[in-house]
Amino acid sequence: YHIQSVTGLLNDPNGFVFHDGVWHLFYQWCPWGAVHGLKYWYHTVSDDLVRWRNVGVCIRPDTEYDNKGAYSGSALPLGDNLYLYYTGNHRDEDWTRRPYTCLVDLKDGGTAVKLPPLFGMNENYTEHQRDPKIIRNERNGRYYIIIGAQTKEKKGCCLIYSSDSPTEGWTFAGQLSVPGFEDFGDMWECPSIECISGYDVLIFCPQHLTLPGRGGSVHHNGYLLGHMDWDTLTFTPDNTRFHVLDFGFDSYAAECAANPDDRNKATLVAWMGLPDASYPTDEEDWSGCLTLPRELRVRDHRLIQQPLDELRALRGKKIDLEFTDILPRVCEMELISRGGDLTLQLFADADGSGGMTIGYDDSAREITVDRSGLRRRFNVEQGERRTRPLPKGLFHLRIFIDRSSIEIFVNDGDAVFSSRIFPTVGEEKLVVRGDASIHLWELNRAVEESFA
Ligand code: FRU
Repeated sequence: YHIQSVTGLLNDPNGFVFHDGVWHLFYQWCPWGAVHGLKYWYHTVSDDLVRWRNVGVCIRPDTEYDNKGAYSGSALPLGDNLYLYYTGNHRDEDWTRRPYTCLVDLKDGGTAVKLPPLFGMNENYTEHQRDPKIIRNERNGRYYIIIGAQTKEKKGCCLIYSSDSPTEGWTFAGQLSVPGFEDFGDMWECPSIECISGYDVLIFCPQHLTLPGRGGSVHHNGYLLGHMDWDTLTFTPDNTRFHVLDFGFDSYAAECAANPDDRNKATLVAWMGLPDASYPTDEEDWSGCLTLPRELRVRDHRLIQQPLDELRALRGKKIDLEFTDILPRVCEMELISRGGDLTLQLFADADGSGGMTIGYDDSAREITVDRSGLRRRFNVEQGERRTRPLPKGLFHLRIFIDRSSIEIFVNDGDAVFSSRIFPTVGEEKLVVRGDASIHLWELNRAVEESFA
């Protein structure tokens, strides 16, 4: 029930937007194998954010500007028009990269018409300039594009361009100032500024940065809450904390869609994968899937991510755990804790050993997810355990398991752990230790099989 490609590599979600009564969600796709090769935009649509239809390839790397890939970007719905902004990853014959910010007008919900690029590379920064996020500022009526970039001193940053028109007249406005974050990774990918519940949220992916609690991972996806001043191009964080969006092993390049009816929430989708990582399916020439869309709100000065209510529509047969300890391969679990320590082993061996362990230690007040017990191990050097403090204890878990992934929502969206997992035949047992009530459902398919 997750969006994934039938073959090749899927990475970032792109252009996630509600337009003309339909949700559009594109993804970065390399059709040629499980490698970060030539990238296309693949197009999917949905009426309810639960059931998805594959529309087909949308943006092809078929011009000089995008000759080495149609890289990530975003969408702007404007009247009948749906504009897609993306990075044309151009390389010269000597392999020098010169990125362009490109524009597509999506006609009749499906046909991509390329318009002239909006601007080229900024010579005062390195070649790493990409992932345009289009924003309309409702206060001054201007349009802004935020670009992820790298200074010549190899520091991650954002560049801002602005115009009165979405399709022409774009000029460089300046580098975004983010006090306290001048030296935070060497490149910021997929930046965005969202306005949720009256807060401004700067979401981005700092690269080559070591963060406490993130094992050997050096690429992160996180956010700062604060205030954006578009006149001075300054994002002032409310405090100095960079929050990671997801505490699991595989999550990156999140993209948000504004909610058409309610400004207090947005919807977030991320790539369930990481750059510079390999996955067991690589040998089958495919890799990657998207996370479930999640409802995003601000609570207690942090982002809260919850599975959409509509996902309940996928529930199939209810499993009674009095009669079985076999975990269905595709399922949803809801757990209400009655307090104390708790251990869950998912996809354990028949003798009760191994599996993926979710453990809550009540005296330490922290939850740990450990995938080292599964037979098929991967990205081991990035660490196989992730821990997150739960100062108020553990009271609720909602877990979505698909054939190669797991998403664990802790305490009503307080924290999420997203991970790829690849249990093998024979790894199927559920072991529960602790005092909790558990509900379990099989889940139905939500993505049409046909692949255009
Ligand atoms: C992030 C990213 C983007 C780039 C895209 C290429 O995962 O590296 O910066 O546009 O992937 O597929």
